[in-house]
Amino acid sequence: MSEFFFRNLKKNYPTVASAKGVRITDTEGRTYLDGCSGAIVANLGHGLPEINNAINEQVQKVAFAHTSQFVSEAGLELAKKVVEMTPPGFMKGARAYFMSGGSEAVETAIKMARSYFVHQGDNQRTICFSRWQSYHGSTLGALSVTGHPARRKPYVPMLRSPSHISADYRYRCMCGFGPGCCASDECSIARADELEAAIVFAGPENVMAFIAEPIVGATLGAAVPGRAYFPRIREICDKYGILLIADEVMTGLGRTGTTFGMNHFDAEPDIIALGKGMAAGYQPLAAVLGSGRVVKAFEDSTGVFEHGFTYSAHPVSCAAGLAALDFVQKHGLIKKVSERECGFFKRALELIKTGIIGDIRGKGFMMGIEFVKNVDTKEPFSADLRVSQLVAQEAMKIGLLVYPGSGFIDGVNGDHIMIAPPFTVSDDEMSEIFELLERALNAVAKLVGSGSAR
Ligand SMILES: Cc1ncc(COP(=O)(O)O)c(C=O)c1O
Repeated sequence: MSEFFFRNLKKNYPTVASAKGVRITDTEGRTYLDGCSGAIVANLGHGLPEINNAINEQVQKVAFAHTSQFVSEAGLELAKKVVEMTPPGFMKGARAYFMSGGSEAVETAIKMARSYFVHQGDNQRTICFSRWQSYHGSTLGALSVTGHPARRKPYVPMLRSPSHISADYRYRCMCGFGPGCCASDECSIARADELEAAIVFAGPENVMAFIAEPIVGATLGAAVPGRAYFPRIREICDKYGILLIADEVMTGLGRTGTTFGMNHFDAEPDIIALGKGMAAGYQPLAAVLGSGRVVKAFEDSTGVFEHGFTYSAHPVSCAAGLAALDFVQKHGLIKKVSERECGFFKRALELIKTGIIGDIRGKGFMMGIEFVKNVDTKEPFSADLRVSQLVAQEAMKIGLLVYPGSGFIDGVNGDHIMIAPPFTVSDDEMSEIFELLERALNAVAKLVGSGSAR
């Protein structure tokens, strides 16, 4: 019996004792290899003295000052650094707003979009379109734009009416053009064109923004859209004067082998939401970056963003973020992730012989593995089997952490895991991750009577 409100009150969780590099140890002395950086957060591994020292130094100087009264040096420096990492069309006049987590970042991004229009005297625009099979956070505003039915279900009556279009989910393309269709730009453009249809139906004068993850993370397992997708989305947003919000909470700051996930596509957003890897889990930290164009609307009006959190731009979090970004830059980690992507994915292909893998997808060190009952027909496993949870459990039993997800095909079916180790993982540790994963997959294949271990 415990007073702690666990995520699942019927489940036992080990108590964490310590962590170093890519390994986490519990109080029973069991050690786990972190194959997914927690929930794709601990991008630099654990226990880095550079970041711990920066945190300690900031605590000694000043731990907290409220942003209605002060700004910290760490906050100012972090804003400069992160804005300097943005694309050229975005950077000039851009500013960074800091908060504690990704859901707060998405709320802030949506309110920033709304305020952009209100500051220009346009009070009518309220709709933020998004996509099914997306994840944008668990607060009610972020959940309204989230497109994962199971996460939405208990709260649907409290959410804004759905304003979702389809995702460009290439493994299960819905265009109906037949086998092989997903290789073409046509399908991606057809998916993007759903946005235009939705805008026209809603009345363009009512629409303020479109929010999307450049590469969908938790709820679609690293699904990469076609290269034509985001350029077409950008065109549509421009045509109707709508802001494009890139939710880079998971993809931002190196995870996909580029600074931002959107860098893979020929399109620049107007607002960027960041979180997770920004302070790499050393402190709670997230950010919203407003492009020069967005910021100008505030500057040309009252200058006030009617918004804020007690812990906005917390000095200790900003110091941790600054040290984390310094570490990434000093060690050239974004380039290294990009260079190691090929080996990472090549190694994963060896898992196909387990017979339960339908698709391996992703970019950089962000990999999704989708499980299927039948690799030829892509028939998913029955949801009752909870295959992704089984894989996570079997992996954890033998000392490997992976990030499971389910229900993404139609709200009920669909199983994947994400493999996303810290950028600092060594080649030997990477091999160990895949060796353990192969053992876990074979065990699950046996349990569900499928695959090569049948
Ligand atoms: C793309 C994306 N947006 C927003 C969030 C919400 O972030 P947080 O859990 O820090 O509130 C997440 C978390 O997984 C995410 O992956």
